[in-house]
Amino acid sequence: MNNQREYKLILAVESSCDETSVAIVTDDFKILSNVVASQIKSHQRFGGVVPEVASRHHVEQILLCFEEALAKAQVTVEDLDAVAVTYGPGLVGALLIGITAAKTFAWAHALPLIPVNHMTGHIAAANFVAELHYPLLALLVSGGHTELVYMKEAGSYEIIGQTRDDAAGEAYDKIGRVLGVNYPSGKIIDEMAQQGQDTFHFPRAMLKEDNYDFSFSGLKSSFINTVHNAEQRGETLAANDLAASFQASVVEVLVEKTLRCAEELQVKQLVVAGGVAANHGLRSALKAAIAKRQLEIELIVPPIALCGDNAAMIGASAFIEARLGHFAHGELNAKPSLSFPERAE
Ligand code: KG4
Ligand code: ZN
Repeated sequence: MNNQREYKLILAVESSCDETSVAIVTDDFKILSNVVASQIKSHQRFGGVVPEVASRHHVEQILLCFEEALAKAQVTVEDLDAVAVTYGPGLVGALLIGITAAKTFAWAHALPLIPVNHMTGHIAAANFVAELHYPLLALLVSGGHTELVYMKEAGSYEIIGQTRDDAAGEAYDKIGRVLGVNYPSGKIIDEMAQQGQDTFHFPRAMLKEDNYDFSFSGLKSSFINTVHNAEQRGETLAANDLAASFQASVVEVLVEKTLRCAEELQVKQLVVAGGVAANHGLRSALKAAIAKRQLEIELIVPPIALCGDNAAMIGASAFIEARLGHFAHGELNAKPSLSFPERAE
């Protein structure tokens, strides 16, 4: 019944990790508001996200985010057609705050509730940049994921390749710790890399292998060993060159394997999604490689503000889920280790 109704305006909620976010988006992919309350400063001194601290911040912020999102969008509750919420993957306590708020709000205002997988949300951010044409390939690179996802149509996801160990963002965060950079270190390592040169020539794992999988833990170990060995000799290595060398290795493998896959699958578009999609080295290397190889593939990379976690992307994904008739029935629970492309029953 729900899917016969028209969905024009969705309020979306995201609280899977360390950003509390509420957004209001339209069915033609306009963002009326996208309020993001970041907790990064509270977690930095611990070198990573502390789940209990995250939950407490979400509780404090969530209602303020609802109010601000409605006020900024200049809409009232009566204008809304549905509520969407991330239900996994993520931290259970953090997810539950967003889910409880979204469920209560939907129930109080008799609105349908749309459960969204956080990872489909990252890909859906591309809708705010361009109209999507299928088949497309998405390179999903975040703190917990590194995947090549083939989409033959909207809402259909097939994993073609993935990391066998660390995610790309996780590798950035781990080597950042060795360089004494605050968590999450991807953005700063990226800035340092732009000031340095690839002088260390770290390994390019699985580059030549005939598959679309990735591996970043060997690179991470090689990086850490290089730094520790130098320390034992009493030497200090050039941090910007270390960052540039690490980034050159990550980017070369991601670009090469992604483009090989895109060519083989003959996709029309390539979407880059997730926190690591904000990486300047990756964005420019993909653009340059597509031009150099004269590929007829449209590259879609969301603006940096939409690469990290935010509720607007959850709203974008929710429109697609609503069209497919995927709504929460009865009890919606958090699924911290929700796989991809799994959906709520
Ligand atoms: O998508 P996201 O905000 O959260 C997850 O769903 O994981 O991604 C966060 C990850 C972190 O590992 C962070 O270090 C990384 O994205 N990141 C970057 C950059 N900006 C954020 N990695 C490389 N270069 C960047 N510019
Ligand atoms: Zn994310």
